[in-house]
Amino acid sequence: MKPIRKAVFPVAGLGTRMLPAAKTVAKEMLPVVDRPLIAWVLEEARAAGIEHFILVTGRGKTAMEDYFDHQIELELTLKEKGKTELLEQIVSALPKEGEVSYVRQMAPHGLGHAVWCARDVVGEEPFAVLLPDVIVDAEPSCLAQAVKAYEHVGGNIVVVEQVPESETHKYGIVTPKSRNGRLIQMSGMVEKPPQGSAPSNLSVLGRYILQPEIFPILSAQERGAGNEIQLTDAMARLMQQQDFHAYDYEGRSYDCGDRLGWLRANLALSLKRPDLQAAVRSMVAEEMARAG
Ligand code: UTP
Repeated sequence: MKPIRKAVFPVAGLGTRMLPAAKTVAKEMLPVVDRPLIAWVLEEARAAGIEHFILVTGRGKTAMEDYFDHQIELELTLKEKGKTELLEQIVSALPKEGEVSYVRQMAPHGLGHAVWCARDVVGEEPFAVLLPDVIVDAEPSCLAQAVKAYEHVGGNIVVVEQVPESETHKYGIVTPKSRNGRLIQMSGMVEKPPQGSAPSNLSVLGRYILQPEIFPILSAQERGAGNEIQLTDAMARLMQQQDFHAYDYEGRSYDCGDRLGWLRANLALSLKRPDLQAAVRSMVAEEMARAG
């Protein structure tokens, strides 16, 4: 079984749910607590043993390349001012040279198309896909749990979480065949099933482990919902040839591609930070009292 060494981060979307901020700031660069979304998700992948990070970028997304590079003036200034701890924190978070690749999706034709744009950098090996607008608070990291499941069963893994029945129409939902602990053999997937028709309450989270045979399927460039090239459609085709398991991970997710989810992530994750929690608690109490 080939190990999972590479991860693809599709970051070329328009982020319309986060407008107007996303007009000039890439959605993936919006901060949660004190670092951009993409940094949280890259850290999750690193904690799963990923060695090569492939960002599928687009117009207006160059800030991400700068973020994962040295900022010489800033580093010199921090050094001169004796802010060595902060300097160390910033420099040590940088990926090593050659660990990050950028490929360009020249138009937002959909998630499947974005993943397909990374085909040559991925090559002939299984790989992970992480959607950077979802932050997952989990220990071990969500992708690390998925990699462990992959090492157990191989094939393709789709990380899922349970959502209330009343909300299944908002998500991609997995059709389960059989369950063994947190691993669920899958027989299909439906994108946003009409209310009352969902095959389960297991919703797709935005973390996948896929075999490279997904690429020839995506190469057909068939368009699906929203006239976009959908990753879900390609996975459904691959499911006819290969094993797919859903993995019901342990942890908590925040959909930061949506304003409320982003606000919640800021609140919840700052409440977990020892240096911030007391101040955030009293700030929330004050604001609640003021709002009446
Ligand atoms: P989303 O559908 O959540 O992102 O795609 P979006 O299209 O940017 O956001 P909204 O719905 O308009 O608010 C999930 C991930 O896939 C990327 C996005 O950047 C996001 O991180 N994506 C999506 C691409 O890279 N290319 C695409 O063509 C579409």
